[in-house]
Amino acid sequence: MSFTVAIDGPAAAGKGTVSKAVAQHFGFAHLDTGLLYRAVGARVLAGAEAVAAARALTAEDLETEGLRSPEVAQAASRVAVEPEVRAALVDFQRAFAARAGGAVLDGRDIGTVICPDAAAKLFVTASAEVRAERRFRELVARGHVMDFDMVLEEVRARDARDSERAAAPLKPAEDAVVIDTTELSIEAAVAAAIAAVEAKR
Ligand code: CDP
Repeated sequence: MSFTVAIDGPAAAGKGTVSKAVAQHFGFAHLDTGLLYRAVGARVLAGAEAVAAARALTAEDLETEGLRSPEVAQAASRVAVEPEVRAALVDFQRAFAARAGGAVLDGRDIGTVICPDAAAKLFVTASAEVRAERRFRELVARGHVMDFDMVLEEVRARDARDSERAAAPLKPAEDAVVIDTTELSIEAAVAAAIAAVEAKR
């Protein structure tokens, strides 16, 4: 039987950590849909055309090195405004969501567009400053030389582009449980997410 958990939210809100923990807790599969857009963005930075790159995407593309860099994040959010790019990625995401045994998908439009009938919907958010702080620490830990103000600027630019686009803009589904992690530890955020999913089981 399928059971879909949709987890949406802005850049660096902790969706990845929360999604992995929820998937592990319930024994569900997990898909980070941001990686699909990042893989397309990386292809475009390498000279490909966005829609063609999205249509030709394979599982191996998700293993490409460097997908977590800030340059690729910006390229991802630029290709993500294109309705044809988004359309090319729908079937893969819906098939993943429908797999037997349960699935957690995290992204921007999972609860609103990709899986409007998801059994559980969460919207994980935090203040822009706190999100930038977390992303800054993550990038530095991975060896990137970063300036905090640049990371904050990057997060804000992507939030604006993701929220203001016409195609599947970032917003909570009406029936999503909002988890604001600004003042929550990772453990508390994960516990809140697990409780919200458990309530729908
Ligand atoms: O990890 P982070 O939250 O910073 O970003 P991500 O989830 O990897 O997503 C990268 C970009 O892909 C976002 O800024 C969005 O523009 C786009 N995206 C999207 O449009 N729809 C999704 N379901 C997932 C990501």
